Amino acid sequence: MSPFRVTVASSAGFCWGVERALRKARDAVETAKGPIVTLGPLIHNPGVIADLASQGIGLVDDVDIKTEGTVIIRSHGVPRGVMESLAAGDVAVVDATCSFVKSAQTRAARLHDEGYRVIILGEPDHPEVLGIRSYAGPDAVVVEGPEDLPDDLDGRRVGVVVQTTQSQARLAAITAALVTRVRELRVCNTICSATERRQEAAVAMAADADVVVVVGGRTSGNTKRLVELCAQVQPHTHHIERAEEIDPAWLDGAAVVGVTAGASTPATQIESVVERLRELGS
Ligand code: F3S
Repeated sequence: MSPFRVTVASSAGFCWGVERALRKARDAVETAKGPIVTLGPLIHNPGVIADLASQGIGLVDDVDIKTEGTVIIRSHGVPRGVMESLAAGDVAVVDATCSFVKSAQTRAARLHDEGYRVIILGEPDHPEVLGIRSYAGPDAVVVEGPEDLPDDLDGRRVGVVVQTTQSQARLAAITAALVTRVRELRVCNTICSATERRQEAAVAMAADADVVVVVGGRTSGNTKRLVELCAQVQPHTHHIERAEEIDPAWLDGAAVVGVTAGASTPATQIESVVERLRELGS
């Protein structure tokens, strides 16, 4: 294999919301009484989840299972009904919902209250989107692109909110498809600034790279979006969770290999990927 240079995107890895959620989880280990669980994985990163488990933080999928101790709400947030049933129960709640996600929930509720039919741009089964949807009224629709828009929007007042980790390009496509069909269109651009920075840095990095490696959990929405955006610029883009997944055959003939990482990827994981690539490229 010929030698290559390794570059890392100028913005990659843990975002503000993930840092905050982890800080709250660690604080809970120090101060909480009784067992501690997160409702769903705290972040979409198997290595971090294993580390939390070693500190005594468990994981439940269903709030009904939990009757005592402390429940940590992850940065993606939870549906309104779950929040209400936790508040009515005996557990202590540590709410680590990211403020960008809270803002998307609040705006969805406001649009619905003001009479707009709410369209949510996002992944229909993603926990963050399920949470936002619960605030958006019974006729809210989740779409991933213009092709998913329902037929009965003509002449309606429509409000759009966005999963925080979507791309601006997808939002632009939905807005363009809606604007000529509806009577009134209100767009709340709830894409978070950390996502935007990481996406811009990833695209700039990919433009100068012969191969791109994106590091992050396979179920991480923001990581998947980085893969999608980098692949549009550099088709030789690969999504991995760990350094061991790097296939040296990917790197054949490359002069520059670029690395970026999702908002739930710890620095240590990025460093081990960069280290492995530098070994292979030296
Ligand atoms: Fe929050 Fe954006 Fe991170 S929504 S959890 S700051 S990716």
